[in-house]
Amino acid sequence: MKPAVREAYLNFDLSQMDFGILMNAFNEAREIDEGIFVEFGTGMGVAGRMMIPQLKDEWFYTVDPFKPYGKGDIDPWEGVNQNMLKGADFYLKEEDTTIKTLSELAAEAGCNFVHERIADYEFIHRTNEKFKFVYVDSDHTFQHVQHLCRIMILNNMIVDGGMIVFDDVSCYDHPTVDGFLQRNNYIKVEQGDFKISYRRGLDNALGFFV
Ligand SMILES: C[S@@+](CC[C@H](N)C(=O)[O-])C[C@H]1O[C@@H](n2cnc3c(N)ncnc32)[C@H](O)[C@@H]1O
Repeated sequence: MKPAVREAYLNFDLSQMDFGILMNAFNEAREIDEGIFVEFGTGMGVAGRMMIPQLKDEWFYTVDPFKPYGKGDIDPWEGVNQNMLKGADFYLKEEDTTIKTLSELAAEAGCNFVHERIADYEFIHRTNEKFKFVYVDSDHTFQHVQHLCRIMILNNMIVDGGMIVFDDVSCYDHPTVDGFLQRNNYIKVEQGDFKISYRRGLDNALGFFV
């Protein structure tokens, strides 16, 4: 992990964390008719607060079991004595307030808001919905992110032209995930030290070459 990236984590400096990449992908997905918006890892609702007010008549699912979980493979807080930031209860203790705030924002915006209190992989297995936008911001281990990508792609969950954004890409071996996505027709759109966005290629669309 680059020292500047670690610094941004230690200072919780959101202004460095590529939210422009997230919102560009989000705006592109808003142009797509089919599918829902999904966030894996609700946390304290930073991204939800940005997106939900713009989702009139859309479906926004945020998925988080709010249970203790491991940090990524590369932990920026390693060796730092900041219990509040390292502790599992950093997100857990704010669960009720976060869900209440996001629900209120959704009601104001006319957005259909659902919080699923389950793990992301369970959600992928259970849902019948297709995704136009996925924000992967849950468990930042390579094993977990690779597993999510496999099951989303093998189960054909993302619509043509749909967007995926990965957060905290410096916390695990994202280049290997990148290779997997590119081999499966996902095109890298924007890349930062924190976030990377991809678009599902359109060449699988029925009649695209007709
Ligand atoms: C970095 S925070 C998410 C921040 C959030 N996206 C935001 O914008 O504020 C990570 C969250 O992922 C959740 N999480 C951990 N493992 C998960 C899993 N398997 N499925 C869904 N969420 C998970 C944690 O409970 C934690 O709240």
